[in-house]
Amino acid sequence: MSESYKKWLKQKLVKLQAIDCYSAGATPETVAKQLGVTTKQIIKLNFNENLFMPRVKQAKLVKELAEEIDLRLYPEDEEVKLREKLTGYIKVPKDFLVVGNASDELIDRIIRLFIKKGDIAISFAPTFTIPRLCVKRQEGEYITLPLLSNLQLDVKGMLSNFSDKTRLLYICSPNNPTSTQYKAEDVEKLAKAFPGIVILDEAYGEFADYSFVPRIREFENMIILRTFSKAFGLAALRLGYAVANPELAKILTEKTPLPYPVSGFTLRMGSKMLDNVDLMMESVREMKRERVKLIKALNEIDGVQAFDSQANFLLVNTQKPCDEVNEKLLGKGIMVKKWGKILQYENCFRVTVGLPEMNAKLIEALKEIQEEET
Ligand SMILES: Cc1ncc(COP(=O)(O)O)c(C=O)c1O
Repeated sequence: MSESYKKWLKQKLVKLQAIDCYSAGATPETVAKQLGVTTKQIIKLNFNENLFMPRVKQAKLVKELAEEIDLRLYPEDEEVKLREKLTGYIKVPKDFLVVGNASDELIDRIIRLFIKKGDIAISFAPTFTIPRLCVKRQEGEYITLPLLSNLQLDVKGMLSNFSDKTRLLYICSPNNPTSTQYKAEDVEKLAKAFPGIVILDEAYGEFADYSFVPRIREFENMIILRTFSKAFGLAALRLGYAVANPELAKILTEKTPLPYPVSGFTLRMGSKMLDNVDLMMESVREMKRERVKLIKALNEIDGVQAFDSQANFLLVNTQKPCDEVNEKLLGKGIMVKKWGKILQYENCFRVTVGLPEMNAKLIEALKEIQEEET
């Protein structure tokens, strides 16, 4: 190995090691081990998964699929078939659709296409963190503006921050972690004024009051992201899609992935879920019923404030320090996502709307924690 090669490699590795990476934190298994309980006893409310999707019915579809699919073959027709089913579901033509390995991968594909060193991407804070990571990896600059105190968009502030270097605007609505869906007229104003690509992340679209998908033709610069990980309950399979005008959609489909990027099994399972869309819709209805009850019950606890939600999770602010609340919840086997200070709210965490028995345990645990002497 030549000295110059060694030097180059060392420098390269140091630079690569400095890149931020995603850390999901403790897993249910590690928490269970620490507590000396089984993983099944852990109440996992930290990832906004759809716990209302009936597992047994979904498993039946997987079994059917296992019989039907020939895993020896490349999935030549599966993506087109899924896009056909999607057109039936969201009522948008096939050429507006891009399929990917869930929204994270689609975000990465878009950012790799549109952000290069020195470009600026802009968003609001707090929001979903993956876009920031992807922009940093491209050596772009990522800037954020705080949300308004009512958790809505600061349209005026954002408009005055657009420049000819801002290439990408990321809006997540309903927003993770605040659970609010932004006013449509605010999103519209920003998208129409923005001189670059607008990613509108609708990962929680099925739980929300409205979607921009039916209006996609109005926005030449908008890419809407949807996923099968949330309402459809397929987080393990990693499947998502983007909706954009055909010119953008074609570029995203043809210029970013390598051949057959999404597994045939995953694509077919997506199609099966769309054939059984009522399973998803019923689970969303059930989650919404529980969401109302959970917000009410949490707000009845002294020192706990739960915000309104248009997603399958809630933002909760406590009087007690969030580190303490989080530790104590973990000690009771309840996993939530700790956030800390969000705008004027000091001690926030995000919690998935769980099944009734899970929510009951969460409510009980928070009552105990609030009543304890610190
Ligand atoms: C707003 C938002 N977008 C995207 C994702 C990523 O979802 P996936 O990659 O599973 O589609 C998440 C996951 O929590 C999210 O909250």
